[in-house]
Amino acid sequence: MNRELKDKRREWVAILDFGSQYTQLIARRVRESKVYSEVLSHKISHKDLLRDMPKAIILSGGPATVTSIESPTCEKEIFELGIPVLGICYGMQLIARVLGGEVEATINREYGRSRLIVDKGCDLFSGLARNLIVWMSHGDRVLKVPDGFSVLAHTANSPIAAMEDKKKRLYGVQFHPEVIHTPHGQKILDNFLHRIAGCSGTWTISSFIEDSIEEIRKKVGEERVICALSGGVDSSVLSVLLQKAIGERLTCIFVDNGLLRKGEAQEVIQRFRDSYHINLIYVDAKESFLCMLKGVTDPEEKRRIIGREFIRIFEDQTKKLGKVRFLAQGTLYPDVIESRSPFGGPSATIKTHHNVGGLPEEMGFELIEPFRFLFKDEVREVGKELGLPQDVVWRQPFPGPGLAVRIIGEITEERLNMLREADVIIQKEIEKSGFYKKIWQSFAILLTVKTVGVMGDERTYENVIAIRAVTSRDGMTADWAKLPYSLIGRISNRIINEVKGVNRVVYDVSSKPPGTIEWE
Ligand code: XMP
Repeated sequence: MNRELKDKRREWVAILDFGSQYTQLIARRVRESKVYSEVLSHKISHKDLLRDMPKAIILSGGPATVTSIESPTCEKEIFELGIPVLGICYGMQLIARVLGGEVEATINREYGRSRLIVDKGCDLFSGLARNLIVWMSHGDRVLKVPDGFSVLAHTANSPIAAMEDKKKRLYGVQFHPEVIHTPHGQKILDNFLHRIAGCSGTWTISSFIEDSIEEIRKKVGEERVICALSGGVDSSVLSVLLQKAIGERLTCIFVDNGLLRKGEAQEVIQRFRDSYHINLIYVDAKESFLCMLKGVTDPEEKRRIIGREFIRIFEDQTKKLGKVRFLAQGTLYPDVIESRSPFGGPSATIKTHHNVGGLPEEMGFELIEPFRFLFKDEVREVGKELGLPQDVVWRQPFPGPGLAVRIIGEITEERLNMLREADVIIQKEIEKSGFYKKIWQSFAILLTVKTVGVMGDERTYENVIAIRAVTSRDGMTADWAKLPYSLIGRISNRIINEVKGVNRVVYDVSSKPPGTIEWE
């Protein structure tokens, strides 16, 4: 738990996770109400909660049924702490069961949009119409509310679709206010957080920056910190934040593995060394990486070689620096939540996610991970607030192994250059068309096949470039981007005309799954 931040901020909301696919979304929505939130295991004890004193508790939905004896539950004492509680879907059913109401498994699963009729004036639905569209996804339903509760609303399928114990400030909603398909869901959450729980809503990105800087300074003291800078959003924002906090005591290491995009290395050096005055060690390791990759065509082998070589170089550089105690990493909240099972219990350790090309724990650094409680879009906001330019803040993800996984077959200097030229055309055209921010990634892949073409009166036998453009929320699943034909046509024309050695361009129309985003 991020206790230090919590103590200082004193206003935070605990979200107890019962395994819903929407738990992260609840955390996001609460933060959109300007209240800091954290997702915790549902097994947390009431004593632990009392120690950190959240302003409110939200119980998430979940795939289990409360009618089963083995279903996940929480301590009854949690409802006696005097802290307002909102149960969502499974969370509401759990409140009903734990406090003596009745829940039944229904045959008719209620799924999708429903019309909610608010039967009783109350704080939870304050300022809203009596007739609302809400999103439902449940099999079980509450049959009888516990003593002290009253029914607030119903739908055709759920006679008890919302309930309250006004005195104890305990609330339950059968629907999901956190999803966009519940149009007034944010208002309902706002009502719970502000009207009912009395949250003042002071959580902002600038308060996060101030607190983080203070926390980093306190933790680092007079020691030194290193950070692997890749030029991507997370490591860039992290480096600038650290620079603000500890200045000279930060050293960033930027390894040029020869697998970067056109002009990327120069850009990173210029930006971070010259504009931000960050201690930047630029390691030109192009030759050693390309030498190790010579003749290698197997994708996994490429990744292994690149990962190993990166660690070797990084270790080498840190040894030269003398005593360094801390390593800063741009680990994000979804990585932290995903590596922790909701059923792991409060003692389940949060695995540290190494996103710096996989740096091993044996390196013995203590970690600094200021973003481990932030979502990607919040990191972008931090970047904006710190004054980083748009093209860094909105940069699309780029894989650690770089262009190596976008060249099918052997990697040579010549093939890298061909891919770089094609890639830069795609980026420029996508940017010009306004699609860059709207899609998750867009890039070129160089294939191993050669095809016959005709240019002027000459027969050609040259390379094929594939264009990959996908939309995605988190990179876990993705859909191929429905770019306008005119844009794809323009990119194709430009690549064939401007990139020597390419006579054909194809567009990848596979989604993930079953395809992955990268081709290797
Ligand atoms: P895939 O290809 O698995 O990619 O669908 C999902 C997302 O992850 C990125 N990616 C990587 N990022 N190191 C990284 O830092 C890697 O080895 C790596 N492989 C894939 C990919 O660009 C996409 O955004």
